[in-house]
Amino acid sequence: MRRVTGKQVVQVDRAEFAALRGRYTAALLDVGTGDGKHALHLARAHPDLLVIGLDAATDNMRRAATKAAASPKKGGLPNLLYLWAAAEQPPAELSDITEVHVLMPWGSLLRGVLGSDPAMLTALAALCAPDTPFLITLNLHAWRPPVPEVGTHPEPTPDSAAEDLGPALKAAHWHLHAAEYLDDAGIAALATSWTRRLNSSRDRLDVLALRGLINPT
Ligand SMILES: C[S@@+](CC[C@H](N)C(=O)[O-])C[C@H]1O[C@@H](n2cnc3c(N)ncnc32)[C@H](O)[C@@H]1O
Repeated sequence: MRRVTGKQVVQVDRAEFAALRGRYTAALLDVGTGDGKHALHLARAHPDLLVIGLDAATDNMRRAATKAAASPKKGGLPNLLYLWAAAEQPPAELSDITEVHVLMPWGSLLRGVLGSDPAMLTALAALCAPDTPFLITLNLHAWRPPVPEVGTHPEPTPDSAAEDLGPALKAAHWHLHAAEYLDDAGIAALATSWTRRLNSSRDRLDVLALRGLINPT
């Protein structure tokens, strides 16, 4: 798999990942990590957690990836890596992921988490341990007006999400348990620069958080 370390991209093979994974009891995958700030925040806050940011685009993550790959003496984070891959084809070398975040997805990632690309969700579930918690946060402005990726899905609400999105997620082994609007504190706690950017350009940012378990036992 392709690890972004700044300007460079290096290959990490299955054995190397397994050795790294073995040093941590838990591993969080941030799918569509963007500039990687959420992953960086988590890795700093939880040195005992392996954090993996994954995105189909490398340019935005280079800055955070440079910080992560620096030597620990210079503020590097041995528990953080950024991978260049599409969620549709996540690296097969990844395994035993124990938490998944998908924050403010757009493009094909948004289409995927709405259940319109079951293969994407199934491929991600295949990387996960049993009972892996997931958090998806949807930027509801994607429905106002609707972007093409939302297709025929109406804007989900805490009341409609189980019925509208639950079955497709469940078919791909993502079991939706709760849907709630995030308040300002909840949005700020995500520590993504994307939500900050959206917030500054709008009077109000509406975000729906979906939580549940992947591969429930
Ligand atoms: C709106 S940004 C959100 C970034 C970050 N999660 C945040 O909250 O700041 C959406 C990200 O999803 C990524 N993305 C879209 N489709 C993807 C796919 N199929 N696989 C991986 N990443 C994807 C984009 O490259 C972009 O970085």
